[in-house]
Amino acid sequence: MLSIGVLISGSGSNLQSIIDYSKNGEYRIDIVISDRECSGIERARAHGIKAICLDRKVYKKDLSKKIDEILSNKVDLIVLAGFLSILDEKITTSWRDRIINIHPSLLPKYGGMYGMNIHRAVIEANDKYSGCTVHYVDAGIDTGKIILQEKVRVEIDDDASDLQKKVLSIEHQLLPKAILDIARNY
Ligand code: GRF
Repeated sequence: MLSIGVLISGSGSNLQSIIDYSKNGEYRIDIVISDRECSGIERARAHGIKAICLDRKVYKKDLSKKIDEILSNKVDLIVLAGFLSILDEKITTSWRDRIINIHPSLLPKYGGMYGMNIHRAVIEANDKYSGCTVHYVDAGIDTGKIILQEKVRVEIDDDASDLQKKVLSIEHQLLPKAILDIARNY
């Protein structure tokens, strides 16, 4: 069975969706790692999943190395689920095609941005659609090969916060779907 390690920085609502879909037994979450104190860690522990915090301010440039040490020979796939630190080239190269990320825009649009800035920019640009993208992680930022994308319509009266909620709700479907596709072909 595909074994995954999930990296987070926040509340872990995407982590929750991965946990929910893991219950059908097609993949398992072996460990959750955060780069800061965050409520997602408690969420993982509440589900009996090993969860550790590697504070980015403590590990600094060695954060990727430490993550690599912990996950090597332990998991098959690394899933970035709202992980805000940038992984270095060494880890993205040695884990090539084995790290995936969810990004709350229709990449390549709004790559390199994060959080509400993306949704504000979409509204300001009067885009008709936004959405989310699951992609492989390479040495660039949000530049890796796209695995899956899902669109949402931006309504005329949507503000950035409305859009964020809409996009987050489809993220919760798309990320587990991408993991299940990988697990089924593993
Ligand atoms: C999501 O929008 C994800 O795409 C982005 O950060 C947010 C994380 O939310 N990279 P959560 O911690 O999963 O609730």
